[in-house]
Amino acid sequence: MRVLILGSGGREHALAWAVAYSPLLSKLYIAPGNPGTAELGENVPIRAADVPAVVKFCQEQSIDLVIPGPEAPLVAGVADALAAAGIACCGPSAAAARLEGSKAFAKEVADAAGIPTAEWAEFEDEEAAHEYVEEMGAPIVIKADGLAAGKGVVVAQTIEEAHGAIHAIMAERVHGAAGEKLVIEECLEGEEVSVFALCDGLEAVFLGCAADHKRVGDGDTGPNTGGMGAIAPPPWADGEVVDRAMAEIIRPALEEMVLRGTPFRGFLFAGLMLTAEGPKLIEFNVRFGDPECETLLPMLKSDLLPALVAATNGTLRGMELRWKDEASATVVMCSKGYPGAYATGGEIFGLEEAGSLPGVCIFHAGTMAEQESILANGGRVLAVNAVGEDLAEAIERAYAAVDTLDWADGFCRRDIGRRAV
Ligand code: AMP
Ligand code: GLY
Repeated sequence: MRVLILGSGGREHALAWAVAYSPLLSKLYIAPGNPGTAELGENVPIRAADVPAVVKFCQEQSIDLVIPGPEAPLVAGVADALAAAGIACCGPSAAAARLEGSKAFAKEVADAAGIPTAEWAEFEDEEAAHEYVEEMGAPIVIKADGLAAGKGVVVAQTIEEAHGAIHAIMAERVHGAAGEKLVIEECLEGEEVSVFALCDGLEAVFLGCAADHKRVGDGDTGPNTGGMGAIAPPPWADGEVVDRAMAEIIRPALEEMVLRGTPFRGFLFAGLMLTAEGPKLIEFNVRFGDPECETLLPMLKSDLLPALVAATNGTLRGMELRWKDEASATVVMCSKGYPGAYATGGEIFGLEEAGSLPGVCIFHAGTMAEQESILANGGRVLAVNAVGEDLAEAIERAYAAVDTLDWADGFCRRDIGRRAV
């Protein structure tokens, strides 16, 4: 099989790593990829969300399967354009990608499918939103409807903060067109987990459960990021939570999407709050998480590629993936200043030594190769993963790798998984 992965982050490096050794694979391309993916396949200089260029490349290179990493190409319709060209894509149509592209749409689907989720209301009128918040009180959650790079959500502890968020999103348009509509939600309390499933429209295969660390600072302080680290499995999500998430959230969502004539194929990511009343949906994403993907795939024993193919042609039913009975932890290393402004270009030493430590896999994200050197070239730069017998060992191994690296301009959280062990 000739396969093309779209994206350039740690998630895409992990996907490339998982399919690179499949006996089914004959050629692997990554667009645009990074220095890590270049070790496993051929990087091509095409932007992941440049749909016409992706389709043209697939036609020229007789690609059999496209695996999109991020949401942007999916929301832009890459799966539809590929389908029209007769090329399989392990990702949803633009219509199904609205589960991530519009928070109001996701809530409407959740309600129609009877999925437990926070009480909510949507607004296109700023005044009405302010009035609603006065009526409901704080804490309350304010969300820009559209894609806002993970920054469109404000968990407001006070009414004043809520009014400020409404004004910033709707009047100042801090997230641009994503703020044309607003979703206001009840604030849920509990532990958060992310549940992943591979879907073929009707069937869903469980891909694991992980806990992300979204804030930049130790002890969950500072601004939100794309994710500073993850652990799997989170000790607060046992088998019962997983069963309920699959039965009460993932499968009903698939059924509802079929009823709407827009079946969901690809990776479905359900962000959940484990409330006193059981798991409730916070949001859907239509892709694998980053760094959750780098955390879960190193525990997979089965070949991923046949499952991805099955997801595209509706034959997932009965497919079982085998997993290591171990635990996994990922520490994300970032350029100092992230998620604000940061400098790039600093050299990273010790990658080979750190990557050869027991259980360790280092996935590249914002890196750049210059001759024999690897330089930092982004905010999130490396995802340092380790698998161990239990979480304590996985975490210890990941930090041993982090401490073997020598990168003057880098930093990471020092408390990934601490609350779990
Ligand atoms: P989202 O982008 O929808 O995942 O939201 C970002 C973060 O905001 C989530 O990971 C939660 O920590 C928090 N959040 C979102 N919605 C709620 C809610 N209804 N109640 C409490 N926290 C929430
Ligand atoms: N790590 C969270 C996400 O990928 O959205």
